[in-house]
This record gives sequence, structure tokens and C-alpha cells, in this order.
Amino acid sequence: MANLSIRNLDDAIRDDIRLRAARNGRSVEDEVRVILREAAQGGRAGAAGLPADTAPIAPTSRDTAPPQAGTQPKVTLIIGGGIAAYKSLDLIRRIKERGIHVRVVLTQAAQKFVTALAASALSNERAYTDLFDPQSEFDAGHIRLARECDLIVVAPATADLMAKMANGHADDLASAILLASNKPILIAPAMNPLMWGNAATKRNVAQLQRDGIRMIGPNAGEMAERNEAGTGRMAEPTEIAEAANALLRPQRPQPLKGKRILITAGPTHEPIDPVRYIANRSSGKQGFAIADAARSAGAEVILVSGPVELDEPRGVDVKHVESARDMLSAVEAALPVDIAIFAAAVADWRVVSEGAQKIKKKAGEAMPPLQLTENPDILATISKRGTNRPPLVIGFAAETEHLIDNATAKIKRKGCDWIVANDVSPATGIMGGDSNTVNLLTRDKESGEIAVDSWAPMSKEDVAVTLVARIASSLAKETS
Ligand SMILES: Cc1cc2nc3c(=O)[nH]c(=O)nc-3n(C[C@H](O)[C@H](O)[C@H](O)COP(=O)(O)O)c2cc1C
Repeated sequence: MANLSIRNLDDAIRDDIRLRAARNGRSVEDEVRVILREAAQGGRAGAAGLPADTAPIAPTSRDTAPPQAGTQPKVTLIIGGGIAAYKSLDLIRRIKERGIHVRVVLTQAAQKFVTALAASALSNERAYTDLFDPQSEFDAGHIRLARECDLIVVAPATADLMAKMANGHADDLASAILLASNKPILIAPAMNPLMWGNAATKRNVAQLQRDGIRMIGPNAGEMAERNEAGTGRMAEPTEIAEAANALLRPQRPQPLKGKRILITAGPTHEPIDPVRYIANRSSGKQGFAIADAARSAGAEVILVSGPVELDEPRGVDVKHVESARDMLSAVEAALPVDIAIFAAAVADWRVVSEGAQKIKKKAGEAMPPLQLTENPDILATISKRGTNRPPLVIGFAAETEHLIDNATAKIKRKGCDWIVANDVSPATGIMGGDSNTVNLLTRDKESGEIAVDSWAPMSKEDVAVTLVARIASSLAKETS
């Protein structure tokens, strides 16, 4: 299919398309698709009696599907014009610290309480304020703000905003976004107790609940106004951020709850002198993804990581190490565990005598001989332990040739239970890349027989989720 840029079209046609898109509540791209489809079907197929331009789009149910695992969820935060708006600046931080991307929209009234500048500085993004802003509305930007997110949070939700939502108004940017969205919406009402108790507000709240809008608060307590107390305080920023997080990342089954898992990741750096080291190209992405998947499955996770450029997964106890010897010490200190997964690319060798000072190049002298010695074999050491051997030890085999043969030999030699074997020849792009093609070798505890399961190519996150599911089902079989 050819790609189409509406910027190359005649001005009048372009304006017509934008107008149609805005009227029909679609993005310009979607509108162009509809026009092309209609043209291909031989003309416009308007809905019953309406001119095609004004035909309503099919009602879309609120898309409650959480974002895919591994992707950063997105929230559009609408700040209403209430005294609690100052707390919404803190809310931006609270949402962000949960690994959620935030885009902020302020109503006109909200800007009397907090500035768009503060909101954009805290969200690290432009904050939006105007429905008729030529810069963001040239392609119906309010539709993008409404749809290019996984959740809309309204905090504080003023009595006025709730009335507009309940009645389908769209006369400013916030209400237009709320009306044009098919995403879940969470509101945090905040108002004077008399406004909250007013029959009109009660009717609006009931309507919003019927419309599937989620609500948090308001809480009871002291109001900003002197001598006023009652129900109407906005829920605290941490409560709202937690509620948003729970909607975006609903509790999945936790098959590894109660299990303690140790995972190693990344390369090791073997010092030559204080400034030089021997390393390899491991990025740590696969080990980090496994740590994240295991935590999501309810496990207590200790991640021993070599030097990597990755963000620490939330809720995981990360121990940073440099060399293979440091890694072995950190691994042994973490025992006992139920499962140990050794995904790190541990350097096989280190130099025999590490220079205490930077080794200098001296004119006329021979190059310093780098004599190597073997590093401890972490996988074999842990697999062959007499005490505190984890009941399930999983190694990784990174091979560039004879993948299955080498991995089969490795599982026997090292004494581990499973091996995740991947082909890391440069052509595969696996080392440092985002996807992986793995073979899982499992050794039967009684017969010693080795089974090989070849998985389709997938992202490292999906490999992690599949591996964790495999571990969970194996544990379930053992206990049944
Ligand atoms: C000082 C002050 C504080 C206000 N606090 C609130 C409030 O907490 N809750 C509320 O619903 N309205 C409050 N209002 C009224 C709203 O600002 C007003 O209804 C405005 O139109 C809301 O606009 P918005 O819903 O577009 O943000 C307050 C007004 C002022 C002047």
C-alpha cells in the first residue's frame, strides 16, 4: 500500500479532510482510510438518511485492554480548575515514578491555579491548553490526545468538568478529549462538600458511573476553605497514581508467588589495570526482561547484574557487580533460592596479574604480555553445590555454531537442569538486540533424558514471559 501524506494535497482538499476528520471524531489518517475505502466501494455509503460527512462513527466501547507487557503505558492527565490542582503537579511525578508516560492537559480554569510551564517541566513534555491551537490542531491534535494513551486521568475533576462529561459537552480541549476518547477514564473529584452533595452533582456522578467512568475519592477531611470539613477532598496523589497503575497493569495470575528467584544478567568486566578491561557485547536485556517477568509472576527477584545501560526493573532487588568473581560472590550471598537463572555472559578469562597502575606504553619496549587465567564457572559452581543448590538451575548457552550439540554437552558438563540456547553469531543480531531465537533444553530429573524445544523468533520480553510460564507450569506439575 502506498503511504499518503496529506501535506502534499491541495489546500482546499486538505482543509476539507481535516474538517471531516474532526467532525467524525477520527484522526486524519483514519479519515483518509475511510475516504479511500468509500471510493473503492464506488461512492460514499452514508448512514440512514444522513449525508455521508455527518454519519456518526460506530460507537466504540472503551478499550480496556491494558498496554502490552514491556511497553511503557501512557496517561493523558487532565487538570481541572480546582484548588487541588497544585497537588496534580505532584501527581505527575507519582505517575511517572511508576514507569508511566504522562502528557498533561490543563483547562483554562486550571491555569489560574498552576501553570502549563510547571506541568510541562514535570512531565518533560509540552502541556496542552487550547482546543483551537493551530500548532497542535493542524491534524486534529485533540483526537490524538484522546486516543494515543492507555488511560485518561482527570484530577482534580471539578463539578463543572463532571457536568460537562455527563452531558457530552466539547467546548474546550479537556471536554473535547474526554468526549472523543474510547480509552478508560479515571476521575478524582475535588470540590466543596456542598457542591459534592448537590443533587445536580449526584445526578452527574450517577450518569458517569453508568457510562463506565472510574472514580477515586473524594476523601473526607478538612477543606481549603476556612472552617469547612466534609467529603470533597481530592484523593492523595499516591492513591490516584496507584489506581491508575492498577488499571494499566491489572493484577495477573501470580504463579511464582512465594518463590525466590536469582537471575544474573549482562557482561562482566575483567580489569587489566584501573582503566582497561576485557568485556563482551552482552546488553543484559534478556536477563532484565526475565527479572521483570518473574516479578510480574509474583516472585521475589534478586538480579545480579554486570555493567549495563538499562533501567532497573521495578520491585526487583538489583545487585551491581563488575567482574566474574564479584558476580559469584553476589550469587552465593543470595542463596538459598528456589530458582536460579544464569543469563549473564560471564567472561571465561581474566588477566593473571591486574596492574595496580595504568600500564604505560614505553617506546622501544615490547607490548605487555596479557597472561590469562580461568574465571570461576558460576553456573557449574552453583549446579554442583552440595548445600543450598537451587532446586531448578537454568543456564544460558550463547553459541555461534553447533548450537544444540554444544548446549547438550553444556547441560551435562555443568550439571544444570535447563539450558536456554541461543545462536549469537553476528548475523543473528541477538547480542545487544531486542529479539531472540531460543531453544530450551530440559533434562528429566529421573531419566536424565534431554528434550529440546525450539521456540519461534520473538522479542526478548516474550522470551522472558514464555520462560517464566514454562517454569511455573513445571513447578505446578511437581507439586500436583
Ligand atoms: C479559588 C477557587 C477555587 C475553586 N475550587 C474548586 C474546586 O475545588 N472544585 C470545583 O469543582 N470547582 C472549584 N472552583 C470553581 C471552578 O474553578 C469553576 O467551576 C471552573 O469553571 C472550572 O473549570 P474547569 O472545570 O474547566 O476546570 C474554584 C474556583 C475558585 C475561584
